[in-house]
Amino acid sequence: MQKKWWHDKVAYQIYPKSFMDSNGDGIGDLRGIIGKLDYLKELGIDMIWISPIYQSPFIDQGYDISDYYKIAEEFGTMEEFDLLLEEAKKREIQIVMDLVINHCSSKHEWFQKALDDPAGEYAEYFYFVKGKDGNPPSNYRSYFGGSTWEKVPGTDNYYLHMFAKEQPDLNWENPKVRKELFDMVNWWLDKGIGGFRIDAIINIKKDLAFPDFEPDGPDGMCRATKMVEEVDGIGKFLGELKRETFAKYDAFTVGEVFNMKEEELEEFVGEDGYFSTMFDFQPHILTSSENGWYDTREVDFLKWKAAIFSSQVECQDRVFLANIIENHDEPRGASRYLPEHARNPQGVKMLGTVSILLRGIPFIYQGQEIGMTNCRREDIHDYDDIDTYHQYQVALDAGLSKEEALDACYRFSRDNARTPMQWNAEKNAGFTMGKPWLAVNENYREINVEDQEKDPNSVLNYYKRLIRLRKDSEWKEVFVYGNFLPMYEKDEQIFAYARKAGEKTAVVLANFGEKEMVVELDKKIRKVLLSNQDKMAGIDENKVILKPCEVVVVSI
Ligand code: GLC
Ligand code: CA
Repeated sequence: MQKKWWHDKVAYQIYPKSFMDSNGDGIGDLRGIIGKLDYLKELGIDMIWISPIYQSPFIDQGYDISDYYKIAEEFGTMEEFDLLLEEAKKREIQIVMDLVINHCSSKHEWFQKALDDPAGEYAEYFYFVKGKDGNPPSNYRSYFGGSTWEKVPGTDNYYLHMFAKEQPDLNWENPKVRKELFDMVNWWLDKGIGGFRIDAIINIKKDLAFPDFEPDGPDGMCRATKMVEEVDGIGKFLGELKRETFAKYDAFTVGEVFNMKEEELEEFVGEDGYFSTMFDFQPHILTSSENGWYDTREVDFLKWKAAIFSSQVECQDRVFLANIIENHDEPRGASRYLPEHARNPQGVKMLGTVSILLRGIPFIYQGQEIGMTNCRREDIHDYDDIDTYHQYQVALDAGLSKEEALDACYRFSRDNARTPMQWNAEKNAGFTMGKPWLAVNENYREINVEDQEKDPNSVLNYYKRLIRLRKDSEWKEVFVYGNFLPMYEKDEQIFAYARKAGEKTAVVLANFGEKEMVVELDKKIRKVLLSNQDKMAGIDENKVILKPCEVVVVSI
């Protein structure tokens, strides 16, 4: 495999609204991020992906952009952004922006002009489509519920929105739109950013016939992703996007890609792929249900492990994926992937280890490095997320009680990951001097950065050691490029694999079960590279005794 500058990076995702508030308005901001760069450097981070910071009405928390060239005033100014870039550079940290180009905000100038003149040039920037006998053009359900079609006032046309009605889809078939977007991407790259995380990108190719599909729910509609799965030809757009922008700058790109056709893997992220990498969501979609959050299953250890292993093995030598435990759209990994008995600091370290030493680029989501957890709310109004409101309603419509619907949100709401970062044990977890836009998780008194910095055995200090091991000059080649070899595949407690490059082999062994286990390797153990125990129960020749929640990395 040809080596690329980003292969050995450790990335960190910042959700800016909830990271650090510097001016007491309750909203995280750019100055807040700048103030924490040393913290991130110390953790071992080389690259920061920041969720959208562009001007936005925040209907979908910034994923609805009304001006791609402006910083949201909630977050600061362009001067502050430039300062962030400069300060990050000083610390050899790359800034990766979020690129939301499937749709913009209904408040974007283009859409406003389109509404003003529905027969004019700007209507062609969107999908304005004639209705069928007084009905919308097709029976698609949007991601956030309800039809994907909204009436264009004063006409018999509808406009398409895969997400909220305030997020009209951009018409990629129109060369003018593509040109506008490519210019904008290059404008940011010219500033010196490292690249982009590319939002919801699979949706940009539409079937312009907008055919109806067999309804898949009681609302008589069919999920809009069905159309995305059926249509061909996205490659033309993505190839052009890459050629006209990223390729010229050797930029790093990571795609948020769901519903890709399997055979397109290399086209997307192979050596000459459209993107540098994409997130491996295989382990995350396992538990989801088409009926909604209320119907999600508990994580099944064997299936979860198998999903990770099969991605790892399949991608070996072909592509480089990006691995996550959680992000701003997912519940907290510590609450989701750990069995009840392991929801403690030892368990959190174990989960972090098995994930971060996989082949691929690790993306750590803010707060993951201290073991932040899901957050229970008493009332649906304590949430501030369009998707959570929708899923709550879906649960009620399915006949669940309010308590049950809230419980589904507790398990799955995107706001679980969006509560303010827990910096210390003081008021509002040290996130703000004012009133936080979203209430903090009450467990900040037990889980926070300041306390963990003082405790050598904390999750945070363990994460630092873990990242240091990944980057250790002696082991880097193994953890970045080494082969992935699954071990104990069928075992119901043990999560184990080896990473091997040349003569060097590291083995990761973790016990997710409740019983002590003895693990036997086929070679003699040379050295313990990392352990989450003060004192290991036992290690002898080629055997390791693993207590519940114990993880160890050894060389053989
Ligand atoms: C992506 C984002 C999510 C957003 C959606 C629409 O999935 O991660 O937060 O709601 O796209 O832009
Ligand atoms: Ca602020």
